[in-house]
Amino acid sequence: MDSPSTSLDFAVIGHQDNWQNITTFINGIRIGELSSKKIKDIFSFIPPRDLFRVKVRSKTGAVINGVYIETFIDPDKLDTQFIRTNIGKVMNAAAWANKMGARIVALGGFTSIVLEGNLDSFARCESQYTTGNTLTSAFIVKGVEKAAILQRINLQGSAVLIIGATGDIGMACSHFLKNKVKKLLLCARNNQRLEKLSQELSKENVSVNYAVSVQDQIPEADIIICAASSSGIKLTDCKKDVLVCDAGYPKNLESKIENNNGLKIFHGGMGQVTHGYTFSPDYSNTIYRYAAPYIIHGCIVEAMVLAFENRFETYSAGKGNITVKNMEEIYSLSVKHGIDIAPFYNENGLW
Ligand SMILES: NC(=O)c1ccc[n+]([C@@H]2O[C@H](COP(=O)([O-])OP(=O)(O)OC[C@H]3O[C@@H](n4cnc5c(N)ncnc54)[C@H](OP(=O)(O)O)[C@@H]3O)[C@@H](O)[C@H]2O)c1
Repeated sequence: MDSPSTSLDFAVIGHQDNWQNITTFINGIRIGELSSKKIKDIFSFIPPRDLFRVKVRSKTGAVINGVYIETFIDPDKLDTQFIRTNIGKVMNAAAWANKMGARIVALGGFTSIVLEGNLDSFARCESQYTTGNTLTSAFIVKGVEKAAILQRINLQGSAVLIIGATGDIGMACSHFLKNKVKKLLLCARNNQRLEKLSQELSKENVSVNYAVSVQDQIPEADIIICAASSSGIKLTDCKKDVLVCDAGYPKNLESKIENNNGLKIFHGGMGQVTHGYTFSPDYSNTIYRYAAPYIIHGCIVEAMVLAFENRFETYSAGKGNITVKNMEEIYSLSVKHGIDIAPFYNENGLW
């Protein structure tokens, strides 16, 4: 049964990943076309604001109401040198969500990285905040498990390379997989953090190697999870038939693969809402770009699931706090509401 409530159960704070999508969206919703140059000139001067409402249905019959708030962060300025401006934009978007009365707010993709460890700034807000990284990580590893079965890859006998291993999502994936695979290969740019994580895992008798160079580890990897916060990762000369989960945002690994060698890639960390959602105004023609209906980022699903469960709490925050127990809990709650991992797809469509 539909809930009579029209209150704002959740909000999502997000940013766009490229100018092509921004141009399509803006020209799709206004009368009279703007040039992409004009759009670039004005876009990042627009203050954060809500763009559309979202209504989501659970398998249980419950309905929740949410809103999407755009930060208007310039997609070419996601690097650390622009961090001050970007933090300002995310903070303003968060204040907007709070003013709208959103009970829980998901910090999508890059916005969670910008505010990492800084959720205390929101302590006085009535809204609760979550990075959504626990369910994102669960969708990534459950996706890898399922895809490995489909590709006839023996997970237990596999060396799994995690690019971005010292990040919040990378660490969660490492801990989830540490007793389920033959070996973990960890990669990130900061050697000290890699060494620390590797030592922790070795103490638990996990077979582990680490390197700052992706290329040094690729020859050994049977499965690759890319959860790095940079767009410059290249995959060259992978083993034959390697399975790759592109878990970052934006998803842009496919253009950086050389000598494919039978590699099979899917976009990970994504869920699918079986009972659907609707946008109001309905901008789905201009913003929906997935290979199947009702696909959505894991971080957004986390806020939805918490709202369905009436658990308006900071479920994921900071870096390195995600536990396997919480990954299993939020995943099973997600399935309870009819939201499971998305069907496997990549730039070329569904597998
Ligand atoms: N699907 C979804 O719903 C969803 C949800 C949330 C986040 N995400 C995406 O997931 C990714 C990871 O998020 P996070 O919160 O875990 O970020 P994070 O905590 O900042 O971690 C990023 C990791 O990437 C590493 N890294 C950055 N650049 C690298 C490079 N060039 N080569 C190798 N390693 C590199 C970082 O270590 P070093 O700095 O030492 O290199 C760190 O280990 C981001 O792209 C984010 O946007 C997706």
